[in-house]
Amino acid sequence: MRLKIAVTSPLPGDALQRLGRRWPVRIREAPGDLREDELIRLIGDAAAVITLLADPVTARVLESCPQLRIVANYAVGYDNIDLEAARRLGIWVTNTPEVLTGATADLAWALILAVTRRVIEGDAMVRAGRFHGWKPDLLLGRGLAGKTLGILGYGRIGRAVARRAGAFGMGVVFTSRRPVRDDLGRQVDLETLLRSSDVLSLHCPLTPETHHLLDEDRLRLLPRGAFLVNTARGPIVDEAALARLLAEGHLGGAGLDVYEHEPAVHQDLLGLDNVVLLPHMGSATVETRSAMADLAAANVEAVLDGREPPAPVVRGRS
Ligand code: GLV
Ligand code: GLV
Repeated sequence: MRLKIAVTSPLPGDALQRLGRRWPVRIREAPGDLREDELIRLIGDAAAVITLLADPVTARVLESCPQLRIVANYAVGYDNIDLEAARRLGIWVTNTPEVLTGATADLAWALILAVTRRVIEGDAMVRAGRFHGWKPDLLLGRGLAGKTLGILGYGRIGRAVARRAGAFGMGVVFTSRRPVRDDLGRQVDLETLLRSSDVLSLHCPLTPETHHLLDEDRLRLLPRGAFLVNTARGPIVDEAALARLLAEGHLGGAGLDVYEHEPAVHQDLLGLDNVVLLPHMGSATVETRSAMADLAAANVEAVLDGREPPAPVVRGRS
């Protein structure tokens, strides 16, 4: 029987075309959220599926698709996939690490600079015709030199964010699940991280352990006036508590690329001037999105050819 590939969305670049020269590829063209039942129908008898980060790859989906050998997530994060079920069923799970590290670290810095220097407020002022000339106290922000950048989660992306901190004269502290010796910064425990971060940037994966890791009590450990940046996953932060601390002035500002109930954004955040809100675009460059497609396709190709994929998360039965 001829192996088939399902893809839950068109992707940038020509990776899908290349896959299509070897196997029939079925691509979902409809916009909007993909629900479990539609995903099961889309995969059908396919041996491989390429999924987006919000696609619900649940145990029911995996159990309903007996031909499936690999779920290739088009993302570095894979909190949308039931890994335990994949393991039990012998299905490979792969992701797209490394190719998006620099782009995501750059976007974290875009948010750090935008929120500390009030870039979006300034743009809005000019467009509204409210710029009436240079003033000594117009839109004063906060400087970064000599301040401390806290990095929660010191994987590839966290470390790339730390590397850029030197250019802005910031010291770095970080947390990591494993001991790390690194000359870019100092490893500390979570409480020390929170108490010492003038800017805190999140780079851990979303897991049961990191869900609401930053609840109200922990957010209150940040120094008064601190800034929070999240380019990781929304549910790591209790969004309602964050909105409260921003509104009452405990936090100086926040730069968010991800949301607890994505794509919905907490109503209270939308009304705050000291918050920069982006639509989950950490890896959104032409170069990176096409490299992610190449890597997802290479993962699929390897498994369908009976080889080890380049970016395994769960090992399947090969
Ligand atoms: C983006 O959020 C990703 O996980 O790649
Ligand atoms: C993500 O955290 C990575 O290490 O790429």
